[in-house]
Amino acid sequence: MKKSESVKHRDVFTSGFGVLAATLGSAVGLGNIWKFPALAGLNGGAAFLIIYLVSTLMTGLPVMIAELMLGRRSRSDALTTFRVLHPQRETWGLIGAVGVLSAFLILAFYTEVAGWVFAYVFKSATGAVLSSDPKVTSAAFQSLIADPFQSVFWQCLVILFVGFIIVLGVSKGIEKTTKRLMPVLFLILLMIGIRSLTLSGATQGLSFLFTPDFSKVTGSVVLTAMGLAFFKLSVGMGTMITYGSYFTHDQNVPMTALRVMLADLTVSILAGIAIFPAVFTYGFKPEAGPALLFITIPAVFSQMPFGNVFVVLFFVLGAIASTGAMLSIMEVPVAYLHHRLGWSRLKSTAVTATLLALIGSTAALSNSTLAGFKILGMTMFDLYDFLTSNLLMPLGGLFLCLFAGWVWGEKQVRSALTNDGTLANRRVVSFFLFQVKYVAPAIITIILLRGLKLI
Ligand code: PHE
Repeated sequence: MKKSESVKHRDVFTSGFGVLAATLGSAVGLGNIWKFPALAGLNGGAAFLIIYLVSTLMTGLPVMIAELMLGRRSRSDALTTFRVLHPQRETWGLIGAVGVLSAFLILAFYTEVAGWVFAYVFKSATGAVLSSDPKVTSAAFQSLIADPFQSVFWQCLVILFVGFIIVLGVSKGIEKTTKRLMPVLFLILLMIGIRSLTLSGATQGLSFLFTPDFSKVTGSVVLTAMGLAFFKLSVGMGTMITYGSYFTHDQNVPMTALRVMLADLTVSILAGIAIFPAVFTYGFKPEAGPALLFITIPAVFSQMPFGNVFVVLFFVLGAIASTGAMLSIMEVPVAYLHHRLGWSRLKSTAVTATLLALIGSTAALSNSTLAGFKILGMTMFDLYDFLTSNLLMPLGGLFLCLFAGWVWGEKQVRSALTNDGTLANRRVVSFFLFQVKYVAPAIITIILLRGLKLI
């Protein structure tokens, strides 16, 4: 009784714009402004961009469509979905179980970086972290991340903030928040982009971003690009299954996925346009890696007129982007606990947040107390990042493709993606089926094996 009631009164996204805002809110995040520019900077600029694009089209996008489709059909969480759609064999549920694990591991380091971003909103507003000397900005950043108290404090603050919105529910919490935040995000990004393009180093920055240098591309770079494609589209770990379960019946799933992918790509490129011209104008190197955001950006922007305002805007942008993404990751375990175990949203969120604070602190302390604790030569922070992006998400994606293409079956896929025959998109669906059955599994397997040096 209780279960069917909760299904009937399921809190879902209420409008087409809400669906788009929430889904795009999940995709857009630190991946666009922290990971993408850093990885492009390290791995040959446009060469990396091209490989990332191809991976997105060949692997990330089909997995995204598959996840949204399965979630909408099952109207269930990431784990239960497989049981609902294919009760004959429970082992497929493992995809969802690993997804929930990935959600915790991603959030463990993600909330930490988001914590730095939130801290930087305040610290840059007071001018505490601003200087045109990168040595000074570097010291400021080090003093934040090497301080165990501050690291854990900002992380917990972020977890509380996200947890608070999650408790409000799917439509009143997630949808309402992302609907307000997404337009602001685009506005800020455009402002910073235009400012950057009017600097003297604009051409150099743009040519770095758009002229490919393939000499830096290796098997592990290709794996990193594919990992980024999964990470960016929030796929391979159940986020899109969970969000798909909140989609309305008339939503055109392949179209929505394509729109989200294009808008997300636009944000990444705009972020690159905002960052690289500025970096070149003031004689910095694009290869700063993850430090680019916290060390180079404050130093670069401090040198331009009105730069202080733009640094603050930059971190506000980061805070907004990371919020939508964190909401969607946290929703994965919360939805599971809420629907499967029948716990209230408050209890589900409280348990998730507490567990997360515990696991997350091992990432937060990676630059201080636990700096010497390494597995496979990586700190916990790096390990969680590597494990999820370069292993668990691509593997999750691989099995999702196999499930959608071979197990669930062509007939089901066709009726799910055409909205029971009401959409005229038969060709798109045939193309999708070909991709999930053959193309995506083959590419994911080869890149994984190559990237991990197994072949
Ligand atoms: N797509 C988000 C980003 O780019 C991260 C994310 C990963 C969100 C996995 C949900 C699930 O920042």
